[in-house]
Amino acid sequence: MNLLLIGNGGREHALAWKIRQSPQCKKLFIAPGNAGTALLGTNLAIDIDDIEAIEYFLIHEKIEMVVIGPEAPLAAGWIDKMQAQPNLSHVAFIGPTMAGARLESSKEFAKEFMKRHGIPTAAYKSFSSKQYLEAIDFLRTLKPPYVLKADGLAAGKGVIITPEFETATQELSAMLIGQRFGKASERVVVEEFLQGIELSVFVLTDGTDYVILPEAKDYKRVGEGDTGPNTGGMGAVSPVYFADGAFMTQVEQKIIKPTIDGLKKEGIPYVGFIFFGLMNVAGEPYVIEYNVRMGDPETEVVMPRLKSDLVEMMQRAAQQKLKNFNIEIFPETAACVMLVSGGYPGDFTTGHKIFGLEETHRCNLFHAGTRLKDGVTVTAGGRVIAVSALGSSLNQAIEIAYQNAEKINFQGKYYRRDIGNDLLNR
Ligand code: AMP
Ligand code: GLY
Repeated sequence: MNLLLIGNGGREHALAWKIRQSPQCKKLFIAPGNAGTALLGTNLAIDIDDIEAIEYFLIHEKIEMVVIGPEAPLAAGWIDKMQAQPNLSHVAFIGPTMAGARLESSKEFAKEFMKRHGIPTAAYKSFSSKQYLEAIDFLRTLKPPYVLKADGLAAGKGVIITPEFETATQELSAMLIGQRFGKASERVVVEEFLQGIELSVFVLTDGTDYVILPEAKDYKRVGEGDTGPNTGGMGAVSPVYFADGAFMTQVEQKIIKPTIDGLKKEGIPYVGFIFFGLMNVAGEPYVIEYNVRMGDPETEVVMPRLKSDLVEMMQRAAQQKLKNFNIEIFPETAACVMLVSGGYPGDFTTGHKIFGLEETHRCNLFHAGTRLKDGVTVTAGGRVIAVSALGSSLNQAIEIAYQNAEKINFQGKYYRRDIGNDLLNR
């Protein structure tokens, strides 16, 4: 079949790489894609919000499956619009409708959903600007550090965690009254701080049944030792040693199953990926957040470990046939290191030539922010390239990833040198 993949990051390059390996994949288009995806299919400069143009393209190119990488189109109801086109009823869309996407696009909806279905998560209350004083009263009942979350999508910046009560009240006022994140912070969720180790668990669901993909841990802070500001993710590893059989049984019984059943009970059809951002609190899993897509850079370690045919899995999801699907996973460990532009996640420059891409061995280079300029691959974003390697141990995977990370160069290149270190020697 012919497929269209939406997005342009490392996640999409990794998805394209895996899709390309399927014997079922004939033509692959990526909109807009990057210099990496151009090696696997045809990059498409099409405005995905031009519904007529997309419809024409899907029909003209006989596209049978559309996979949506990032959350923004899902939250904006892109799938709903596409599914309303009578000429596209034969196309499988992998991604939830706007109703399902609320699991990510509204923190308040997600928290209430978890409460309705008894899914473990941090205690919380949510507030509007009129309830500022009530919010302060609620803050007083919590122990520091304080966790404040803008209700809506804020490009990963909407979460504030601070040990100081004063700072928390100032931030709360900036969000609720000063509209720091615009509409996204018209409502704010204030919640209890969970102490533990985070991990990311992914499923592909058809709305009734689901397949659990390999879990991963990502490294969000820009600095070594988990210091400095949050980024989209500086690296990832899979598997995660503490996600053993007993832990994953809890995750499935207390979190995954109630989530899928809850969506169904609430009449929300869901075909696509769900990313459970979890905290392991003394052996018990809690949901920190839902995302309605795969993680980035987690996908860059999850896809290399997936042995099963991803296109077949997605096809089954679209046909409500995931029941009894036995997913196959490679036993190796995967580690990925993100090479980023100097200055990221603050200001940085782009357009710098990337050297050494041909010098790497035994790894996958998933392009995150690159583009072709007169046939030359140049930087085009904060996160530039994910260097992902498989090894027989975590040690080996990390070593191979770093050997290759050193071979690639561009002006201002920066990367963390401690990805996976916290999980070594377990
Ligand atoms: P989120 O956007 O909800 O994933 O939050 C961003 C990051 O803040 C998470 O990845 C966690 O590291 C941290 N975080 C969010 N909520 C909590 C919480 N209740 N307790 C501890 N850490 C949290
Ligand atoms: N790596 C975290 C995310 O994709 O949101």
